[in-house]
Amino acid sequence: MITIDLKGRRALVTGASSGIGAAITHALAEAGADVAVNYLSDPTGQDAAAAAKVAEAARALGVRAICVAADISDAGQVEKMFATIDQEFGGIDILVNNAGIDGVAARCWESDPHNWYRVIQINLFGAYHCAREALKRMTVARHGVIVNISSVHESIPWSGYSAYTCSKAALAMLTQTLAQETADLGIRVLGVAPGAIKTPINESVWNNPDTLKDLLRKIPSNRMGEPSEIGRMVALLASDMASYVTGPSLLVDGGMVLYPSFRHGG
Ligand code: BGC
Repeated sequence: MITIDLKGRRALVTGASSGIGAAITHALAEAGADVAVNYLSDPTGQDAAAAAKVAEAARALGVRAICVAADISDAGQVEKMFATIDQEFGGIDILVNNAGIDGVAARCWESDPHNWYRVIQINLFGAYHCAREALKRMTVARHGVIVNISSVHESIPWSGYSAYTCSKAALAMLTQTLAQETADLGIRVLGVAPGAIKTPINESVWNNPDTLKDLLRKIPSNRMGEPSEIGRMVALLASDMASYVTGPSLLVDGGMVLYPSFRHGG
């Protein structure tokens, strides 16, 4: 029988309190995985409340769910988060490096270095910190899956977002290199590269009819993606259905990288 069965697997999803991360957590829980919901605690407590809701929805699906606060750009906080997961779940089978930010739009010569660094610190260093902790455990257990959430912008340049494009291109190479390091240890490392998925990160674009129209011109499928469409793909790739897949970034983008401007003429 062909099923996505993650029963008994223990997963950590970073940046799981909203958007794509929340949808991935939901899909993993639907497939039977226990989930650790990572979030960045903010003084208002809003993120903690959102993470608690995601965990509650997972529990309603019959799995164990915990919330783990950590700023993944800080190696010390990531170490502590993994220690908590060890205590609560006794190990980890799936890591989804999802947390990321687009950053502040600014062309290189107008940008503030601190904003630039922050994007790299979260999107790339954060994924590295979490992969490092996960692999310490997975290499001993001799099994595990890491899914890095990249972007179409690992290959499509994006004016105003050089830190973002660099972080995602680097993440794709981190994925391949870690896949090479661990393939003979029973571990798979792969990427999912979403296109324009309707989430809070790009709300200012889909909220405005003019910018939405411009965006849709860039998507051959002529619609934005739903977070659940990423969630499902991550669950599939994290499962034994994808047991021989390691290394690549799978595009889930409605054809965004297919040079839609070439659909006619040329
Ligand atoms: C970005 C979104 C953007 C999409 C398509 C994603 O990686 O996070 O803000 O809408 O790429 O350009």
